[in-house]
Amino acid sequence: MVMFEEILKSEDVKDWQKELMKYEFAVQEVSTKINILNTEFKNLHDYNPIEHVKTRIKKPKSIIQKLINKDIEPNAKNASIYLKDIAGIRIICSFDKDIYRVFELLTGQSDIKVLEVKDYIKAPKENGYRSLHAIISIPIFLSTGVVEVPVEIQIRTIAMDFWASLEHKIYYKYRNKTFLNISDELKECAEMIALLDKKMFDIKEEIEKIEKS
Ligand code: GTP
Ligand code: MG
Repeated sequence: MVMFEEILKSEDVKDWQKELMKYEFAVQEVSTKINILNTEFKNLHDYNPIEHVKTRIKKPKSIIQKLINKDIEPNAKNASIYLKDIAGIRIICSFDKDIYRVFELLTGQSDIKVLEVKDYIKAPKENGYRSLHAIISIPIFLSTGVVEVPVEIQIRTIAMDFWASLEHKIYYKYRNKTFLNISDELKECAEMIALLDKKMFDIKEEIEKIEKS
């Protein structure tokens, strides 16, 4: 059992604060970009592609655990070198189509670099998980110079988010219990949710067609 408090005490807490600060700024910058896109879209098309946005910075305790799991010396410097998901932004959209629209609009901006994309919507995970993941980087201008800061972006629909948060809760609650075989049912639910997304989108298209005619 690792004593996080000991590691944190033995580490200079200031080192962690200094190292993690840039992730705070990166989340602020990307959040602003997302807000601008959403507001502009609303004004131009009278439509919000984004339902809501959640942000998080990984806590030193989770960072240390992740580094230990990867057999890496857990210190603030290594966190920045080896982890790309310290800053995280989850964007919840209404429809699948909005996910790709928001992704293109965000990653098409000249200061954003795309480091990695995992499309779990086109190719869902074995358990049924659906979401568009990307690691992007954004330049942050500090008094000491410019730094490229990675941010993990997850974009999914409300329905996909509903499934993912329940699956996460169930997984953590029952991870030590072997008598439960819930994975087939969860996968079935994920497929129902994908169908629901499709049906809701079809309804929206139908309404738009009627409005235009
Ligand atoms: P990590 O070691 O968790 O960072 O995995 P990875 O680097 O292979 O990244 P991946 O893009 O697969 O997953 C990143 C994050 O997506 C996870 O930390 C979760 O927040 C979320 N995620 C991935 N798979 C699942 C899943 O099956 N269920 C749920 N609920 N969330 C998932
Ligand atoms: Mg990751």
